Parts: sequence; structure tokens; C-alpha cells
Amino acid sequence: MADRAQIGVTGLAVMGRNLARNLARHGHAVAVHNRSSGRTRSLVEQFGHEGTFLPAETPEQFVASLERPRRVVIMVKAGAPTDAVIEEFAPLLEPGDMIVDAGNAHFADTRRREAALRERGLHFVGTGVSGGEEGALNGPSIMPGGSRESYEALGPLLEDISAKVDGTPCCTHVGPDGAGHFVKMVHNGIEYSDMQLIAEAYDLLRHAGGMEPAQIAEVFRKWNTGRLESYLIEITAEVLAHTDPATGRPFVDMVVDQAEQKGTGRWTVQIALDLGVPVSGIAEAVFARSLSGHAALRAAARDLPGPSPRRADSVDALVEDVERALYASKIVAYAQGFNQIQAGSAEYDWNIDPGAMATIWRGGCIIRAAFLDRIRAAYDADRNLPTLLVDDHFRDAVATAQDSWRRVVTLAAQSGIPVPGFSTALAYYDGLRARRLPAALVQGQRDFFGAHTYRRVDRDGSFHTLWAGDRSEVNG
Ligand code: 6PG
Repeated sequence: MADRAQIGVTGLAVMGRNLARNLARHGHAVAVHNRSSGRTRSLVEQFGHEGTFLPAETPEQFVASLERPRRVVIMVKAGAPTDAVIEEFAPLLEPGDMIVDAGNAHFADTRRREAALRERGLHFVGTGVSGGEEGALNGPSIMPGGSRESYEALGPLLEDISAKVDGTPCCTHVGPDGAGHFVKMVHNGIEYSDMQLIAEAYDLLRHAGGMEPAQIAEVFRKWNTGRLESYLIEITAEVLAHTDPATGRPFVDMVVDQAEQKGTGRWTVQIALDLGVPVSGIAEAVFARSLSGHAALRAAARDLPGPSPRRADSVDALVEDVERALYASKIVAYAQGFNQIQAGSAEYDWNIDPGAMATIWRGGCIIRAAFLDRIRAAYDADRNLPTLLVDDHFRDAVATAQDSWRRVVTLAAQSGIPVPGFSTALAYYDGLRARRLPAALVQGQRDFFGAHTYRRVDRDGSFHTLWAGDRSEVNG
């Protein structure tokens, strides 16, 4: 048995436990600690044979069992519990040691913690980890922030336990301080958007196509062999194919239709608003979950008039149209998310490589998808691409998909099927394409009631029209 551990994990709920096991299975000696030591003991009892665990009863023992520089991974609830654990361990550490927060922390908290610990000579590495329990155990996608120096000491271990695609680890140094948690947050925003779009595709096939969940599961299985191939499409097929054992009915029909959220999608939208990035697809996904949860409001509104239900003329044609609408909308979702990463990177001076983010999302994480290879290629060709939509591959894909996309949104509107994800994605696309937007009129309105001024298309400067006077124009 090793007398020193290369890395330690404190906080042994399921994610922490699985990360510790993953490290041990890769041959790293892992110190393990939990506030209540029962979890530490049960980890070693159940999984001790998987590798070398050094169980510690106290923080002091835990810290003493780590080789230097010490690598302390904390895996506790985001927010106050994280601060409490940092305060417990930081005084026991020495300059050059590192604390790795692998939870879903808000990147602003990570920036604050990193700055405070840097003052004390410690490295603080806010690390996004995606892939759920399964990923933590068998290979997640890992998004570490913090200093380059800390990555040198930590990166090889993290790369070792991450998922691999074509031999490439799904882990890279994202950028300084909060960059890792920022990218994880946007990952989750895209996750919300992708899930909402898939759910809308299902709803359309069910209600406009008259298909049963098991049939729709087959459609998703087939899609999962094509360009939509992704973890979320794969698990959607599983969920739709599942029969509720208690009733024999489709499982999906037995689940209360109110989607919950822990907050990372909401953060993505809040931050996007601050950065001025129109992530409308992510926002609609967050709002769609919120709307679903307003039971009383929905009960009050359920008898509002709608159109008489319509069925698509051909189910096969509908399936094809929905596949295209889904692909096009998904491109928009990722385009918006990557724009947010670029905006965050510029705002905080992180120098994030978008192609590298697409690379580490190809495996391990919840949004892993075949088309991330395409995104990587797009950013490898032009790191400063203004939007994925102008990349040749995606431009052509949307060009081919757009008639279907428009038909699907039209059919949904005519049938009274809510498709906020599909329709906002299309509106975004058309908004970007527009030669002239009615924003010009909004500027006129603002100038009318508030003398907020406007710019002209034919001359530089800012102007104001004397609306209450003779309507002549003056410099603003
Ligand atoms: C991941 C996931 C994970 C997240 C869940 C639940 O990347 O492994 O994003 O971090 O906690 O998806 O999120 P909601 O409860 O907000 O849906």
C-alpha cells in the first residue's frame, strides 16, 4: 500500500465517490475523506479492491496523506458548502498546493475563490465535470480552469481519467480562474436547449404525426445512426421505449409533465443577458421548464381556445421534416452557446479556444454528439468564426433543412403545438439573415418618447428628431 496519495477527494456522495474510484482504477493512490466517515468506510469496504485508497477520518489526516504539491478535489454542493470546505482545508495546505472544485459552481464564485486563495499562495482550480454518475466513474468530460501551472501538475491525472475519443482525452486546460466553470455552465445551457428541442420533436411526432412513444423511440434510434447521433438522442429512445411496469403504459405518460432544474441553465441565460449574447434557444428551454412547472397557471389556462387538431398528411414526410428541423435548431443552439463562450472569453481575458471545447465535449459529457467533430473542424479552420451558421458545412446543412424547418414550425403553429425551441431558433436564423430589421423602428420609438437618439444609414454621428416641435433633425 502506498504511503502517500497522488490526489485526494473529499465529499464522497455519488459523484465524489465515482471520481475517486475512477482515479484509483487508473492506478493513482487516492486519499478519501468525507465529513461523516461512514461514507469513507463504505467506499473502501465496497471498492477497496479497485485500487489504492487512503481513507482519512479527519482533514488533518487527509492532508498529511497527500504527496506535494497536494491535490485536493472537493466534491460538495455548490455555494456555501464549498466555501465551508475550502475554509476547512486551506489552512492545512502549503504554498503551491491546489484545491480543485469539481462541483457545478457559479464561475463568479470560482473567480472570487481563486483570487482569495492565490493571495494565500494556493492554486484554486474550478473544474467543470460532465457526464453524470456514470461519466464520473468511467470517463467524464473535464473542463479545468485555474492557472496554467496548476494544470501542469493536475492535467495528466485528469486527462488520464477523462473519456477518450479517437485516443484524445476529453480534458484540456480551458483558461484561467473561472473559465472552466463558465464553459461547464454553457455546456449545461446547451444541454437544456438540446433536451427541449428533442422533446419538441417527440411532441410533434406524437401529436401531429399520431405516433405512439414506442414508435417514436424507433425513429430516435434510427436518427442516432445519422448526423443527429448523440447521447441525448440515444437516451431519449430508451426513455420512450420504456413501459411503466406498474401500469403497462408508456413510461413517459406516467411522469408528471413538470420539468425541474437545478439552476445552471438559468445561470447561462442570466450571464448571457449581462454579456449581451442572444442565447434565445437556451432561454426558451429554461422558460419552457419554468412554464411546465406552473401547475396552477396551466390549470387556469387549460380551456383557452386553440385550433382544431391537425395531422400531418404523411407521417414519413413529417419524420423527415422534424429530423431536419431538429438538426437546424440544434446548430443554432450550439452556435449561440459557442458565441457565449467567445463573449465570456473576451470579457474575462480567458483566451478560450472554441475548437478545443468542441474537442473535449465529443465524449463523456451529456451533450456529446457526433456533430461536435464538425464544430471542431469549423473552429479549427477559423477560430474567430462569427457564428457556426456561416461555416460552410453548417450553412449548407441549414440551407437544405430550412424548408422542412419552416414547415414544421408552421404546422406546429397551425396545430397549437408549442415549439418554443424550434421557433426561436428559426427566428434567430432569420434575424441574423435579415438585411433590415425593424430595430430601426424601435430606435425611432425610443427617440420619440425619450430623445434617446439614433444613428443614420447615410451619415456618421447620432441624431434626434424634434418630435414635439417642427420635426427637424438635430445632432444628438
Ligand atoms: C452534466 C450535467 C449535470 C447536471 C444535470 C442536472 O453535465 O453531467 O449537466 O451537471 O447537474 O444535468 O441539471 P438540471 O437539474 O439543472 O437539469
